[in-house]
Order: sequence, then C-alpha cells, then structure tokens
Amino acid sequence: MKSQSVYSKIKDAAELIQTRFQGFKPEVGVILGSGFSGLMDSPEFTPIGTIPYSEIPHFHGVSVEGHAGSIKLGTFGTTPVAMLNGRFHLYEGYPMEDCVLPTRVLCSLGIHTLMITNAVGAINPKYRSGDLMFIEDHLNLMGDNPLRGAQMKELGPQYPDMSQAYSFDCRRVLESQATQLDISFHEGVYAGMLGPTYETPAEVRMLRAMGADVVGMSTVHETIAAHHLGVRVAGICSITNLAAGLSNKPVSRTDIVENSKNSLKNVEAILSHSLPLFSGADTV
Ligand code: HPA
Repeated sequence: MKSQSVYSKIKDAAELIQTRFQGFKPEVGVILGSGFSGLMDSPEFTPIGTIPYSEIPHFHGVSVEGHAGSIKLGTFGTTPVAMLNGRFHLYEGYPMEDCVLPTRVLCSLGIHTLMITNAVGAINPKYRSGDLMFIEDHLNLMGDNPLRGAQMKELGPQYPDMSQAYSFDCRRVLESQATQLDISFHEGVYAGMLGPTYETPAEVRMLRAMGADVVGMSTVHETIAAHHLGVRVAGICSITNLAAGLSNKPVSRTDIVENSKNSLKNVEAILSHSLPLFSGADTV
C-alpha cells in the first residue's frame, strides 16, 4: 500500500511539472540550501519558469526562514536544470517520505545527477568558516531512512549499496574546476543530525570520533532517495561556523544564513563550470 502511494505522489507532482513545461528535460537537479537562493539570480542561470510548492500536489509549504518554496526550471550555463529552492527537513515534523518527495520528483523528471548544496558547521579542526567542502561520504544519524517501510520496487532495490553514495567522478569534476578557478576546498564526511537543536559540545566530540568533518541537518535523506533511484549525487557544503564548543561563540542561525551568502560567488563559479561536465561522468 505504502509503495503505491509514494509512487503515485511522485507521479502526480512530476506530471504537473511536465504538463506546464512540455519538452523541457532537466539533466541536473540542484537543491539550494540555506542562503543559496542567490544562485537563481546568477547571471549563469536563465530561468524558464517557476512553480511554487503550494501548486504542486503533495508538496508542503516551507517553514524554515532562509528557504523559499518553489521549483525553478532553466539553464545554468548550458545545462538544463531543475532547482529546488527550499527543502523539507525531518525536524520540521513531516514524515520522511514527504521530506524526500521533491528529490524523488526531480529524479523522475529524468535528471542524471543531483547537486546538493547546504550549510554546515565545521568539526574538522583544519576547517574554517567560509571554506567549502565537497562531500565524500556521510553518517546517517537522523534516526530515520527514506527507504524504511514497505519495499518500493518501482523505485529501486530494497538494500542499495552505499559504498559510493557520492559520485567519485562528479567530485573529481568539482575539484578540478575549483582548482582551475583557484578556489580552495576540502573533501570530507558529512554527519546528518535530526536537529533542530544545534549539537552540544559533547556531541561534536562524539561526531569527530566517528569520523565526521562537518555537521548539518539535511542532505543525507536526499542522497539516499536519489541514489536509490539510480541518480548520481554530488554535494557542496558551505562551512558557515565552527561546530558547538570549537569556538567561544554560540552557534547562531542568523550568522549561518549570512555566512552562507559569502560563499555564493565561489559556489556559483564552480557549478557553472562543473555542471556541463557532469554528463560524461560515471554511473552511480
Ligand atoms: N550544526 C548543525 N547544522 C548546521 C550547523 C551546525 O553547526 N551549521 C550550519 N548548519
């Protein structure tokens, strides 16, 4: 029963988008995290149309400040893209299947790659606020999984391999383009926490011991959902703060949204150079 309803929700939402923008076939999906909406105003982005989440069947409104709620279609550089401007976090109280619905809808529009952006706190002592990190792997500490429940045969396997959840080839593209643009970056492990509280210093020490380099409250569920559907995933984190206990400043949402805007120009440059190169990259 559950698999049927998830599948039909995806179909309803995708059909509305396809009907409104017939003939437009996005190749890359982009999820815009906190402070990243500015990517839509990039001179690199030529919009074709916008659909507010409120008009898309089964989508919720977005309740988080710093996140709008719409799908934007257009071309980024030369690449046809579908952008999610705003995401649903598990901590907002929605069921997991609703949180990953927009991701699954992007995938069902036919994208081959999903580019996830987010804001994170740094755990690795070498990282600084303002740095960028490409995600190499994640720790799912959200306490849930989008594949929990009845098997969803229409979507993908029940036990997906996760040994390369973040595409190695896409990461190589991001890295080579960042290097050419003279933008420094890290490569590391993202720990996904439920939130909405930021971590305690003890939790940050635990995450470091577990091998995390950064921490956030999103991304992991979106990656699992896209990977399950056979879509490649790449992730760019904007490091907006040092995680709790690693500086004498409290972690503040206002600082995080402000700081993520500072890395926008660099992310924009990396994306506009990298997206056209993704199409020739590996399989999932
Ligand atoms: N913790 C969790 N999520 C975050 C942080 C943090 O320090 N910074 C940005 N998102």
